[in-house]
Amino acid sequence: MKAIILNQTGGVENLIVSEVPAPELKPQDVLVRVKAISINPVDAYLRANESAHPHFLQTGPDEKPIILGWDISGEVKSVGSSVTNFKEGDEVFGMVNFPGHGKAYAEYTSAPASQLAKKPVSVSFEEAAGATLAALTAYQSLVIYAQIKAGDKVLIHAAAGGVGHFAVQLAKAFGAYVIGTASSANRDFVLSLGADEFIDYQNEKFEEIVTDADIIIDSQYGNHVERSVQSLKKGGRLISLLTPVYEELQTALTEKHAFYHQLLVQSNGEDMQALAALMESGKLKTHVSKIVEFGQMDEAHRQIETRTTRGKVIVKGI
Ligand SMILES: NC(=O)c1ccc[n+]([C@@H]2O[C@H](COP(=O)([O-])OP(=O)(O)OC[C@H]3O[C@@H](n4cnc5c(N)ncnc54)[C@H](OP(=O)(O)O)[C@@H]3O)[C@@H](O)[C@H]2O)c1
Repeated sequence: MKAIILNQTGGVENLIVSEVPAPELKPQDVLVRVKAISINPVDAYLRANESAHPHFLQTGPDEKPIILGWDISGEVKSVGSSVTNFKEGDEVFGMVNFPGHGKAYAEYTSAPASQLAKKPVSVSFEEAAGATLAALTAYQSLVIYAQIKAGDKVLIHAAAGGVGHFAVQLAKAFGAYVIGTASSANRDFVLSLGADEFIDYQNEKFEEIVTDADIIIDSQYGNHVERSVQSLKKGGRLISLLTPVYEELQTALTEKHAFYHQLLVQSNGEDMQALAALMESGKLKTHVSKIVEFGQMDEAHRQIETRTTRGKVIVKGI
């Protein structure tokens, strides 16, 4: 089968379409003919940084070639002997084997049945592929860790991005009051997702505008999380997608009696089913801002590296 392989880390020219053996199918696995793939910042990070491979891909130095990617939608080709919830021909989507060697940039990928959900009929393969890693991150942050409930005031940073645009919609679906940050070019987009308020982070200080948030999703580097603590109310919940606790941050969190969690998203079929139900009911939609062909993976990586992507970038299956 065809796959996009990475023999050595570096620039986008290192993503090479090549012929590789088809994946093996374990008893609990489903073999999926990939129809669409979504791209995340971590894909580009791993393309360029070998030292991060053990953490995110769980690969050793001899495991070559690397096949990047985790986010797929597609059609079930065959199922392992112990799989009962999927059959050949089912349309599925999911984030496969994260953290781990997902091998999604391929014609076929295999994944445990426990990590997939059936794709709603009304949702395209491109939209479904987009609602995987980013959507699971938003879901696990808000629902599993922050335990969102109706009436919560929720501040979502990078509300126009992959994670953020799902987080705004999810928080609204749970009955929260939602404030989103982005640059002014994304004001109308963020409000169209259902946000109640918009903050232009380039011209306004969010911590001076919001000081009583119940929940904050922070996805920015540096001491941004310390600024987010200022926006929390006492006893609030702060979920960071990037920053481990450090001394000054711990002091600020303790003063606020705040809950803090550094999230690393995990493959989870039950969470995928919850997302599928929200998509089916029209409460959650993927904004696909760019679709490229399988052979244009370099273009998709360049786009995600701009850090200004609106919604999701999708690569078609081969
Ligand atoms: N820990 C985990 O499990 C996990 C999971 C998913 C993602 N992440 C990380 O979370 C971050 C976001 O992921 P993503 O997929 O949403 O990325 P993305 O789609 O590339 O995010 C792009 C968006 O970020 C916005 N943005 C950039 N700087 C901003 C700032 N200072 N304040 C507010 N918005 C800003 C941009 O809006 P403007 O163009 O308007 O500036 C753009 O719409 C990445 O670093 C990613 O690696 C971690």
